[in-house]
Amino acid sequence: MDTEIVTIHVPNPNAPTPLEASRKTGTARPEDIESIFYKTSVYVYEVPVRLWHWLNAAMIFLLIGTGYLIARPLPTMEMGEATDQFVFGYIRFAHFAAGQVLTVAFAARILWAFFGNVHSRQMFKLPVWNLRWIRELIYELKWYLFLVPEPRKYVGHNPLAHAAMFFFITLGMSFMIVTGFALYAEGAGQGSFYDTLFGWVLGLVGNSQRLHTLHHLGMWSIVIFTIIHIYAAVREDIMSRQSMISTIVSGWRTFKDDRVE
Ligand code: HEM
Ligand code: HEM
Repeated sequence: MDTEIVTIHVPNPNAPTPLEASRKTGTARPEDIESIFYKTSVYVYEVPVRLWHWLNAAMIFLLIGTGYLIARPLPTMEMGEATDQFVFGYIRFAHFAAGQVLTVAFAARILWAFFGNVHSRQMFKLPVWNLRWIRELIYELKWYLFLVPEPRKYVGHNPLAHAAMFFFITLGMSFMIVTGFALYAEGAGQGSFYDTLFGWVLGLVGNSQRLHTLHHLGMWSIVIFTIIHIYAAVREDIMSRQSMISTIVSGWRTFKDDRVE
């Protein structure tokens, strides 16, 4: 267990009342100035985590688009002589290139978990033995289902987001990388670098068609995650008690109130 302590709120006893800086410009009302004392920010997502997030998101969109087209190829296009066209080749090339970038970025993200702050490790482990975490997971699920009036506050991911990231990204994306490279190994040929590293997957799965199907189903699980993830990010940005989208852009989590629970 990590023992790192995260301070949520450090009141500044020397802050003048009302805060001079905030009085100078804008349309600050006395209650706005008062609220500045209670809205606090914590630095959560460090630069490598944020860079990885957006690079990974871009690669995922590219992989979903090109992967879908690999599974359902475009109809033949009358763009020129057949020998002058390379449309499907370019689609496959984009898929493989994005796959390589995604893999290297994920390896770097795993490495960063050893050097980064406590939040950089959150995605890689689930505290399933922690009953409090389970209770909070159920509570968060109720909040997402509109069954409780108010969410709890979290500095890192809330338990539901945490579980989704673990299953769909830590496990799910590893599955896509392994099956993707196993498919690539088939093209690269027996005895190739990729075959040496990932050839065993084809043997394990049984045949190439099944490998394609598993990789294909994996895409749909990531599509489902992405849709829910973006919905939740926007919804929580508006409805939760803390910042959300700006946090994965700037790294800072800002709380909208000063209540602990
Ligand atoms: C427009 C698109 C996206 C937006 C607005 C967005 C927004 C966010 C936000 C707000 C967080 C922080 C959540 C929190 O603090 O609990 C986050 C984290 C995360 N997002 Fe996204 N996201 C987008 C696309 C994606 C895509 C396509 C994926 C992958 C399929 C993805 C995977 C993740 C992961 C794995 C994390 C956790 C980061 C970590 O702990 O290292 N996101 N995202
Ligand atoms: C989240 C990431 C990924 C998604 C969503 C994705 C999606 C897809 C889809 C839907 C297909 C078509 C499967 C079919 O029905 O035949 C496909 C094929 C393929 N993917 Fe991925 N993929 C991902 C990651 C990767 C990675 C990391 C690699 C490694 C280089 C890779 C390599 C391949 C290869 C070699 C094929 C077969 C191409 C062919 O038969 O022409 N994919 N991918």
